[in-house]
Amino acid sequence: MLVISREIIANLQPKNKTSGQIRGYSLGSISMQKYLVTGGAGFIGSNIIKKILENGDFVRAVDNLATGRRENIEEFSGHANFEFMEGDLTDLETAKKSVKGMDIVLHEAAVPSVQRSVEDPLKSHHANITATLHMLIASKEEGIKKFVYASSSSIYGNNPQLPKKEDFPVLPISPYALNKYAGERYAQIFWQLYGLPTICLRYFNVFGPKQDPNSPYSAVIPKFISVALKGEELLMYGDGSQSRDFTFVDNVVAANLLAASSEKGFGEVFNIACGQQTTLNELVGFLQDITKTQIKITHQQNRVGDVMHSLADISKAREMLGYQPLVDFKEGLKKTVQWYEKP
Ligand SMILES: NC(=O)c1ccc[n+]([C@@H]2O[C@H](COP(=O)([O-])OP(=O)(O)OC[C@H]3O[C@@H](n4cnc5c(N)ncnc54)[C@H](O)[C@@H]3O)[C@@H](O)[C@H]2O)c1
Repeated sequence: MLVISREIIANLQPKNKTSGQIRGYSLGSISMQKYLVTGGAGFIGSNIIKKILENGDFVRAVDNLATGRRENIEEFSGHANFEFMEGDLTDLETAKKSVKGMDIVLHEAAVPSVQRSVEDPLKSHHANITATLHMLIASKEEGIKKFVYASSSSIYGNNPQLPKKEDFPVLPISPYALNKYAGERYAQIFWQLYGLPTICLRYFNVFGPKQDPNSPYSAVIPKFISVALKGEELLMYGDGSQSRDFTFVDNVVAANLLAASSEKGFGEVFNIACGQQTTLNELVGFLQDITKTQIKITHQQNRVGDVMHSLADISKAREMLGYQPLVDFKEGLKKTVQWYEKP
């Protein structure tokens, strides 16, 4: 009979696995964790998948390719531990199919843009609230061990107090922010009512490889990098004094995996950021240094629904999840520029 001790099992884990993940390995038959990443063809989802596969676990991605791109997941095709399911989570049956046989759900799928939600609030509502409720229902029925929800710093709105702490009153000023807050509350209620272990992560302005620079709804960093590398004129909303806590995607990936293996923090929300404040003007300065270019700027009026300043207090995630930013803003920016420079 094969007897496997806890020590042997611990040695089987990649070095960066935390103790909670030992739950995925069972005595007698060694099994890996099975992750479902919703929105897996998107920017953050595809970065999470890469790390899960590196760790030797199994991952299924579900995506309707609304804003996600096949090219983001091309590198995983043919990998024995990777599966892609094309489907729309606004359909409950699709949500139920997607969680079948999974242990952990990392719910990244959304239409993630303030601007899009201002233009089409109903579409955002379906993708961000209805699909989230479907995923929670499906996860509860499947007996999912951990449900991690991608929330957003936008829910803090224009409250001028900084740094943002999780117990600040929320003040959504766009349909998107309201959607994300509703998702959080649903996730918390599913823990309180049904015992589904949920953890909500409030991401602050994430950037990094695979973020789309070419959509009118693109985030500021991929857009600015793309413009700098092409030598084009940069269109900046406002005077550039707006600030953000820009967070390199590896930090968000790490936070997801920490939450997935955490044995505490259920029904809680956590800020996930770098804890550094950078203005758009500073961002342009750093980009000029990295790309060795002079960027020409045209200013436009601020957009409705955009917040002026943002900075996170990340102490709660540090204390309860053991989170710490692995890559700081400037280092992340260099890595990102290098990725966009690749042919
Ligand atoms: N990027 C950021 O700065 C940021 C900040 C805060 C929160 N978030 C949250 O992180 C998550 C991921 O964002 P991202 O930046 O990777 O965006 P993304 O657009 O690259 O990824 C979202 C993915 O969800 C998919 N999707 C949308 N509706 C769907 C549906 N009905 N069914 C199945 N798939 C669907 C899209 O096709 C896309 O691949 C989102 O929940 C977003 O709200 C992102």
